[in-house]
Amino acid sequence: MSEIESRLIENRVFFPNADFAKNAKLSDMSEYMAMCQLSNEGYEQFWAELAREFLIWHSPFTSILNDQNPPFYRWFEDGMLNASYNCIDRHVRSGNGDKVALVFESDDGKIEKVSYKTLLVKVCKFANALIRKGYKKGDRAIIYMPMSIEGVVSMQACARLGITHSVVFGGFSAKSLEERIIDVGAKLIITADVQVRGGKNIPLKKAVDEALTGEASKIVKDVIVYRRTGIEIEMSPRDVFLDEIIESEEDYCEPVYVESEHPLFVLYTSGSTGRPKGIQHSTGGYLLHSALTMFYTFDIKPDDIFWCTADIGWITGHTYVAYGPLATGNTQIIFEGVPTFPDAGRFWQMIEKHGVSIFYTAPTAIRALIKASSLNQRVAPENYNLKSLRLLGTVGEPINPEAWVWYYKNVGGSRCPIVDTFWQTETGGHVITPMPGATPLIPGSCTLPFPGIDAAVVDETGQELPNGKGGMLVIRKPWPSMIRTIWGDAERFKKTYFPKELGGKFYLAGDGSIRDEKNGYFTIMGRIDDVLNISGHRLGTMEIESALVAYEDVAEAAVVGKPDEVTGESIVAFVVLKSKRPENVKEISEKAKVLQNWVAKEIGPIAKPKEIRFGDNLPKTRSGKIMRRLLRALAKGEKIQQDVSTLENPAILEQLSGT
Ligand code: WT7
Repeated sequence: MSEIESRLIENRVFFPNADFAKNAKLSDMSEYMAMCQLSNEGYEQFWAELAREFLIWHSPFTSILNDQNPPFYRWFEDGMLNASYNCIDRHVRSGNGDKVALVFESDDGKIEKVSYKTLLVKVCKFANALIRKGYKKGDRAIIYMPMSIEGVVSMQACARLGITHSVVFGGFSAKSLEERIIDVGAKLIITADVQVRGGKNIPLKKAVDEALTGEASKIVKDVIVYRRTGIEIEMSPRDVFLDEIIESEEDYCEPVYVESEHPLFVLYTSGSTGRPKGIQHSTGGYLLHSALTMFYTFDIKPDDIFWCTADIGWITGHTYVAYGPLATGNTQIIFEGVPTFPDAGRFWQMIEKHGVSIFYTAPTAIRALIKASSLNQRVAPENYNLKSLRLLGTVGEPINPEAWVWYYKNVGGSRCPIVDTFWQTETGGHVITPMPGATPLIPGSCTLPFPGIDAAVVDETGQELPNGKGGMLVIRKPWPSMIRTIWGDAERFKKTYFPKELGGKFYLAGDGSIRDEKNGYFTIMGRIDDVLNISGHRLGTMEIESALVAYEDVAEAAVVGKPDEVTGESIVAFVVLKSKRPENVKEISEKAKVLQNWVAKEIGPIAKPKEIRFGDNLPKTRSGKIMRRLLRALAKGEKIQQDVSTLENPAILEQLSGT
């Protein structure tokens, strides 16, 4: 709770810099409020006008919002469009074909630039190759690719044909990949030989082969392999190399126009059960919010050099790499590597080299770089010329005020506003965020809703709470870029996001929030479900527990989060083995290592517990429920103050205390 309290007393206010505000889309709070009022007065009309302004429709919509069957809302449903046309062709047609769309910097510092015209050719050739292989609108493709031009091209090529893509982050294991292939029913996989990060080759194709040894192999027909390094890999008859299949394809491919509600993509994310859920997004509504937030939250201008550091395997890399910056016709940086290679000055060096003007990253990266520069002054941002920056952003988790202020001063030179953008895989784009030329900033607060987003803090019955009272964050009206359903599980979609207790009409974000008494600013207090946030990535405790108990020697496991200086939260697992409990330090660390590697193999390295504690049992109530609250306190090293008389087995606490 101490962190929440310290946020409440945060009273430093940073007003938008006058120079920035002068040229901003919204240059003071009255303009922001006017836009909100517009949305209040004619909600549907507000969104319809923006959809006409920001997107090019092949055939215009006449229906704005169909809310006949809540919570299955449909936006602009009789309109037809193509996402790839909106991201590429439109800019070439308007005379901007020579503008650089993508600047790729590889792990080892090589640079490749792609203009909009060239991007169009690459996407078209790829799409033509997919047509030749028989793929068409409605098919699903899994994309398991490194951060690369080809990764973005794959997504855009699918979008061009109405093939619903599902990108799987390259850090996920073969097992996770297999689950997703099966769940989404993908006939096609697009992958690479390896990905290169921090000077190391990480095999991707090998993981695909492993994922295709069981049930998934009956679904998948083709595997397209991009040669990142060209190292030798095993190829089966179903595998083809990307360069070979596109070689003789035509430079142009007619886009396939789809209904606005056509699923552009499905992206898996963790929830509070063991199985990840496939978040399904639409084409029109999703693309609208991508472009709109580029325009307002990032105040994007034609000459900006935009850099969002997120991987295309996450929602941030969908909205603010693969779609948003292209929809608004901007130049962006795509980076293959990691922030600490060859040293922790890499981000600052790249900002200087490329003249980045808008920089968007995660609090965990900022905290890691603060730490690195306090250990080694040479990698500190002060050593680089960062004058090109005019706006900074963060996303993924709450940013602690100290890190915010460091980012503001040391990276932004006390000149750049910071947009602390709150959103989720499910919201498609920013939902609570400052407008950089208008909103006075308070470190640690994501401030106010994007115009048109009806966010509120409510109690368990759906009643709105007064400012200063913490509760559940909800969005009370449907908005265009919202999740449409969970792929193949409409029931779970309804239950998870539109619970009956809240009238079935409020979107439940799953985060706790509180609004500031004075100005109604939102502060996010973290998840209220069993979801952890590790380095801005979501992981379900149940998912990790299921992975642990799948290990033959594990009888029972409980996973909790523990505050961590760099990653925000870290994973602590409490494990009961079937065999004897390891007792000495060596045995414990050996067994822990085995289980950590097991989880990395089952889910991916990001899900590895940082700490594993072994006990003969777990603390349970007499009815057999694991007392997670106690485990969270134990993980933090707190003394158990509360009454433990309801515990079946109080003696177990000593064993699990980790001392
Ligand atoms: C969860 C969503 C949205 C892209 C990256 C994560 C947390 C996200 C913020 C922020 C406080 C934040 C929430 C949310 N979160 N942004 N600015 N301040 N918390 O997407 O994996 O779907 O995770 O990330 O807990 O529910 P995601």
